[in-house]
Amino acid sequence: MADTKKTVQLSIDGKNYDYPVIEGSEKEQAFDIGNLRAQTGYITMDNGFANTSTCTSAITFLDGDKGILRYRGYPIEQLAEKSSFLEVAYLLIYGNLPTVAELTTFTKEITKHTLLREDLVKLYDGFPRDAHPMAVLASVVSAMSTFYQDSLNPKDPAQVQESIIRLMAKLPTIAAFAYKTSIGQPRIYPRNDLEYCSNFMNMMFAVPSEPFQVRPEIAEVMNLLLILHADHEQNCSTSTVRMIGSSAANLFASIAGGVCALWGPLHGGANQEVMEMLQTIHNDGGDVDKYVKLAKDKNSTFRLMGFGHRVYKNFDPRAAIIKKACDKVLTTLNVKTPLLDIAKRLEDAALKDPYFIERKLYPNVDFYSGIIYSALNIPVNMFTVMFALGRLPGWISHWKEMNDSGTAKIGRPRQIYTGPTARDYTPLQARK
Ligand code: ACO
Repeated sequence: MADTKKTVQLSIDGKNYDYPVIEGSEKEQAFDIGNLRAQTGYITMDNGFANTSTCTSAITFLDGDKGILRYRGYPIEQLAEKSSFLEVAYLLIYGNLPTVAELTTFTKEITKHTLLREDLVKLYDGFPRDAHPMAVLASVVSAMSTFYQDSLNPKDPAQVQESIIRLMAKLPTIAAFAYKTSIGQPRIYPRNDLEYCSNFMNMMFAVPSEPFQVRPEIAEVMNLLLILHADHEQNCSTSTVRMIGSSAANLFASIAGGVCALWGPLHGGANQEVMEMLQTIHNDGGDVDKYVKLAKDKNSTFRLMGFGHRVYKNFDPRAAIIKKACDKVLTTLNVKTPLLDIAKRLEDAALKDPYFIERKLYPNVDFYSGIIYSALNIPVNMFTVMFALGRLPGWISHWKEMNDSGTAKIGRPRQIYTGPTARDYTPLQARK
């Protein structure tokens, strides 16, 4: 962050006030209004934080107009092509691509922590069978803070490191156990001879009664999807993780909050909604124009799920990579689905439509990811869980950056109160 010596002048009620301009390494500029209320009595109003930065961050850069996404300076296209998810996780969390020795140690540490404590596993039997796996994920992650009381102090780097490894190691196990429990199958314990994604797929789809082998193409595409979802700067769930962490809450509690925020259909839950929407269109005869029309109708609440993004107003670079991967994986696995054709026709129709053009609404990361997950046999209610597995290193890196900065303050926005002004208490019997 550079102090530019530039200022922005605000004129309020005939008086001028200067606010310092700060500039990021990619020349983004902000003026710091930290003293605004003290000096003028005013606060700012910014619904949905669309124009507000609450922190500086050196993790992820994105330019929504140019369709650029970089983790720690590395373009997402290069990472998607050349990297492994654990390498990207290391990059996000610790700031640099790991050396061979660093990656080996990181991977070994994660691999040896994949098991869940048996007492923790008992929790799964307490949830209803049809519980949404995101609810289970959030609950079990939160419960980790009851089992690992030795690593809860956010100010102790050794404890934080222990929690990071435990979370990275155990989240795939927690997720796969949620799925196996939901379908009444025995939970498959982690296999530490398998790499990260193959181990997850094995826990999802193996059964004790027969041999099972994860196809390398499947592990490869999962690796790609996790990388593409690994971070996206101050999105809703990451901001939630930062907000919870800003009260000095432990990492497990903060990540559990991130999982809850991700679950919403306007955020990570959109991938599930996209598949359900494509299925509905298919069941309704495949008329995509009808649904494009419905999405434009202001009397309807229907939106094209997987379209639009708060920040990308050109294209979502992750969507371009996923679309290519989608074609490839369906061909390799010889999966034929009418939903891919519907998705492509829907995209074509929307991209030609003035409503979507004027509002700069393009397919986002979730538009094609669900089709890939389906091709991998991942059930629809696990899609958002897959997103959470990918986003975990992003959440951790932001939480850690905030705690390491030493300058973070507790998150506490202001409000403009619009309720009743002072009134006297009316006794119960006297109320009408
Ligand atoms: N379908 C139809 N119209 C849309 C869509 C959509 N998917 N998205 C936005 N619009 C319209 C809005 O109705 C609004 O129109 P108006 O100006 O006539 O009122 C305009 O485009 C701007 O929309 P906002 O909701 O103000 O945009 P915002 O930046 O707040 O929302 C969001 C972004 C939530 C992603 C939105 O585009 C959306 O709901 N998309 C569908 C859900 C989705 O795919 N979410 C995943 C996002 S990516 C992620 O979280 C990983």
